[in-house]
Amino acid sequence: MLKVGVMGVRGYTGEELLRLLLGHPDVEVCCVQSRVERPQKLSELLPAFAKKTDLVCKNHSPEEMAKGCDVVFLALPHTVSMGVAPRILAEGKKVIDLSADFRLKDTSVYERYYKTKHLHPGLLKNSVYGLPELYREKIKKSALVANPGCYPTSILLAAIPFLKRKKTSGAFFVADAKSGVTGAGRSSTGAFQFADVNESFKAYRVGEHQHVPEMEEILADALGEKMQVVFTPHLVPINRGILSTLYFPLSEKMTTGELVRVYSEFYRNESFVRVLPEGVFPEVKNVLYTNFCDVAVKVDEERNVAVVLSALDNLMKGASGQAVQNMNLLAGFTETKGLL
Ligand SMILES: NC(=O)c1ccc[n+]([C@@H]2O[C@H](COP(=O)([O-])OP(=O)(O)OC[C@H]3O[C@@H](n4cnc5c(N)ncnc54)[C@H](OP(=O)(O)O)[C@@H]3O)[C@@H](O)[C@H]2O)c1
Repeated sequence: MLKVGVMGVRGYTGEELLRLLLGHPDVEVCCVQSRVERPQKLSELLPAFAKKTDLVCKNHSPEEMAKGCDVVFLALPHTVSMGVAPRILAEGKKVIDLSADFRLKDTSVYERYYKTKHLHPGLLKNSVYGLPELYREKIKKSALVANPGCYPTSILLAAIPFLKRKKTSGAFFVADAKSGVTGAGRSSTGAFQFADVNESFKAYRVGEHQHVPEMEEILADALGEKMQVVFTPHLVPINRGILSTLYFPLSEKMTTGELVRVYSEFYRNESFVRVLPEGVFPEVKNVLYTNFCDVAVKVDEERNVAVVLSALDNLMKGASGQAVQNMNLLAGFTETKGLL
């Protein structure tokens, strides 16, 4: 059995991780951490787990987590994870970090978008971006996996098969995405309160979202050239799920059928990306509580534009499901174990 632990278990992604890990046949959840004042039954903090586990939650130090576990998941805010991960790695244990702290290789970009100095730039050369569809072999050998952001997962999986064929005439593409409210985390306040979100629909951080440099860095690596993303995130009054719509001007004529074949071929061996048939478009309800990302394409032949859509659950393929997929790779398990 692989011994695992979760730090930040009381948050949305921590809770989702626990749900998945308790159901995983080859995993034993050994330690769960939250900043509790005294050790407390997990079921008191998260009543959904009553009679499912007797785990006790403590404010474990990173060293204590490392002592009891082979792999530690960090479901912590960005800027917190970067202080924790090195202490677990120093004990010879592996880390899957759900925050953004080890995703960007360029610390000046990190510092600009996250408004804080990176404390461990030396670790960035060893961290691997945890998108298995692109970096599977590197993830298997890594001790530090930087689990991707939820929007980047939905947009990169939708964009890469198209861009690898170099059929766009633009130096950028437009990505318009809508997310449910859990994307902001349980600790969020203010604009994410029920009354502010319910019965409304708005864009936010237009032209300045921190996921833009993350997507552009991975696109440059995957394509071998620069590609910019004009990204507008929106908040919709649902709990979970992301629907992204991408627009690519075409450099040559093609049909929807041809593009469906490009995507189907690209994802032929992928367990968690489902390319939908021509004329069928993704819906958030079809991916909720699953690790699937559904992708569909449509060519607007009159305007010569390809439209690509994707849907995923931000807490699953957008966070905790993908983190368990990465753990399966690290541990040498079948990639789908505990996820299908
Ligand atoms: N939500 C998503 O859809 C999503 C998707 C992809 C990635 N992520 C990333 O995953 C990470 C966790 O996100 P989340 O949505 O689960 O957030 P969350 O619901 O707000 O939970 C984060 C947890 O971290 C702990 N925490 C907060 N501040 C801390 C501090 N200063 N020191 C130590 N622990 C602290 C809190 O637990 P205690 O108060 O119990 O200690 C909190 O419950 C974030 O980095 C986020 O960007 C989230």
